[in-house]
Amino acid sequence: MATPRLEELVITIRAPSTPSPAFRFALAEIGRFLGYEISKQLTSTPTRIKTSLGKEAIHYPLEQNPVLITILRAGIPLYQGLQDAFPNAESGFIGSMRDETTLQPKTTYLALPNLEGKTAIICDTMLATGGSICDAVCTVQDRGAREIYVCSAIAAAPGVRKVEGLVPRDHIYFAALDDELNDKGYIVPGLGDAGDRSFGKKID
Ligand code: PRP
Ligand code: URA
Repeated sequence: MATPRLEELVITIRAPSTPSPAFRFALAEIGRFLGYEISKQLTSTPTRIKTSLGKEAIHYPLEQNPVLITILRAGIPLYQGLQDAFPNAESGFIGSMRDETTLQPKTTYLALPNLEGKTAIICDTMLATGGSICDAVCTVQDRGAREIYVCSAIAAAPGVRKVEGLVPRDHIYFAALDDELNDKGYIVPGLGDAGDRSFGKKID
């Protein structure tokens, strides 16, 4: 799925010199790109449109929009790009914080629309240990979602393996796959702290 433009965007987010506005902008473009890729797997419905020439054309828009679910806070710029790919989608938000010692995620906030029988796309910029996304997948499954996709900018192989326990591999999308995590749970080579790089250093 890698394209030269996607590669350029990954270089931009990995570069430590990229300032926050350009970092968020690149993440949003990655979100748009991955959103369009995911949409190729969703069900579309033949639709006839009569043009001003009195002739019909057939096109294939989505049968039903997915629900976009973002993990706060690092997922926000990626989500904004996904929203461009699915402008009519409903959105849900999950607040999650990783304990810096245990690396276990803790859910702090939930704001979800009805998910019964729906397709959901869960996005978080970093898929590191996979704990945050796996928790989000369980929450979304519990609320009756029929099909779940995962969308990240940078994923680590151990985290992808964990998410694969809950979601089919071809439903897990990312722009780059890294091999490992360091002892603080950061993806290596990664890009550092995605939330801090997007929004400034968090002290609380
Ligand atoms: C980071 C990141 C992911 C999570 C990934 O969140 O934004 O949500 O860690 O790690 P995992 O795959 O090991 O669970 P963090 O708790 O740093 O919060 P933030 O988004 O507010 O920066
Ligand atoms: N969260 C981040 O922001 N970066 C990582 O490398 C891992 C988790």
